Amino acid sequence: MFEMIKLKYPYDAFEPFIDTETMQVHYEGHYASYTKNFNEKMIDEGLCYGDLSVLEILKETLSSYTYNQGGGYWNHGFYFEALNPSGNEEISIKFNSYLSNFFYNGMEGLRGDLVAKCMNVFGSGYAWLMFDTIDRQIFCMGTKNQDVNHITARYQPLLNIDVWEHAYYLKYKNKKRDAIENHIKVIDWSVVEGRLKNIIAKERG
Ligand SMILES: [Fe+2]
Repeated sequence: MFEMIKLKYPYDAFEPFIDTETMQVHYEGHYASYTKNFNEKMIDEGLCYGDLSVLEILKETLSSYTYNQGGGYWNHGFYFEALNPSGNEEISIKFNSYLSNFFYNGMEGLRGDLVAKCMNVFGSGYAWLMFDTIDRQIFCMGTKNQDVNHITARYQPLLNIDVWEHAYYLKYKNKKRDAIENHIKVIDWSVVEGRLKNIIAKERG
């Protein structure tokens, strides 16, 4: 059985940037549904992938329904894991100094790129911060729906921002840019930094 990640903070901890109702519906409704549906499909179809990770399973030949539920399950876990309601400024300064190893245009450039990629997602999808393990570059990109095909041995994910309407519409309605800019204020950059360090540590064996 694939488990949901536990939230480190209560639903109301992200006010006023992410409202309590959205956090609750997103976690207990959407994320929980993807998790339940993915687990049920794995059992119903007798799918057993042993020790493969969810991302490895999603590289197998699956029905589009199972792929979407599995993608929704994985994407939401990755999303909820990197939220922190406090200390954002301090941890972003720390991450900024680490980021300087990778020829990126600093935190302001990064925030601007993330907002632009979020705004460019037409319909449902995510914006991502990715690490190119060959060229040693960090870059932003957008994806559709619950896709995870862009994640490969070469391109590793550091952060995703959910820009499905369910992630912001209750509070922000058509003000998508406001929702994104406020979401960026509660990103846990120490988690992002940890992910990057893990990738590099694994490369070194
Ligand atoms: Fe979502």
